[in-house]
Amino acid sequence: MKRLLVIGIGAGNPDYITMQAVKALNRVDVFFLMDKGQSKDKLIDLRREICERYITDRTYRFAEAHSPERERGVDYSASVDDLNRAKQQTFERLINDELADGQCGGFLVWGDPALYDSTIRILQAILASGRCEFEFEVIPGITSVQALAAQHKVPLNTIGRSIEITTGRRLAAGQVSDTDSLVVMLDAEDSYHQVADQETEIYWGAYLGTPDEILIHGKLGDVADEIERVRKAARAEHGWIMDTYLLRKP
Ligand SMILES: C[S@@+](CC[C@H](N)C(=O)[O-])C[C@H]1O[C@@H](n2cnc3c(N)ncnc32)[C@H](O)[C@@H]1O
Repeated sequence: MKRLLVIGIGAGNPDYITMQAVKALNRVDVFFLMDKGQSKDKLIDLRREICERYITDRTYRFAEAHSPERERGVDYSASVDDLNRAKQQTFERLINDELADGQCGGFLVWGDPALYDSTIRILQAILASGRCEFEFEVIPGITSVQALAAQHKVPLNTIGRSIEITTGRRLAAGQVSDTDSLVVMLDAEDSYHQVADQETEIYWGAYLGTPDEILIHGKLGDVADEIERVRKAARAEHGWIMDTYLLRKP
């Protein structure tokens, strides 16, 4: 039987790796790396660095595949379905061609595999299709949400209240609950500008846990334009950006 380990590597800092993840890394024969293009080379480099740093006594290799990209400018959920089908084919090929029976394959998942990541869903779909046989385990990691809260030294919830974690797309469409603590991820459109109450505090973080980390905190009325400016400049400089923020209603 083939075995797969879906390992959460934390969202940026190699020190975010847990002891469980270190043990898992040391069981893997083949790491599957999904290449997302030149601008994201740093993310692949971090995965290689993690292997070099934490794998102490084992021979392993990398199998790279080009990661399919979502088609832009078309219906969002249809394009996500297409993307996941393409990813499923890529994963199946990697598992069939790159892993021998009895070997262990590793997916190094950014942050935690349970949060806005399709790896678990895709592996479940492959198993359900019956086209590949394997067993898999999930090793949790530190999410960008936890990194954001730690770097700003702020709790995610107010006392006894709930938190909602959502996307920039849903915030922009007004599809959020009236919770006082909203965490927004995957925001390509500066959707914090859509929040009416300018007294709302924003805790914004980009490239969290990395040497390029940027943090901005303040009332939306005071810092929203600054965030937009800084975000645009950082994106132009690096070629890509990953940012997350907490909105706290007064
Ligand atoms: C596809 S989701 C993956 C989330 C990841 N599984 C996690 O646990 O954080 C990508 C989004 O996560 C957030 N993100 C991931 N890493 C980040 C980082 N180092 N700094 C800021 N935001 C990050 C951004 O909102 C980005 O658009």
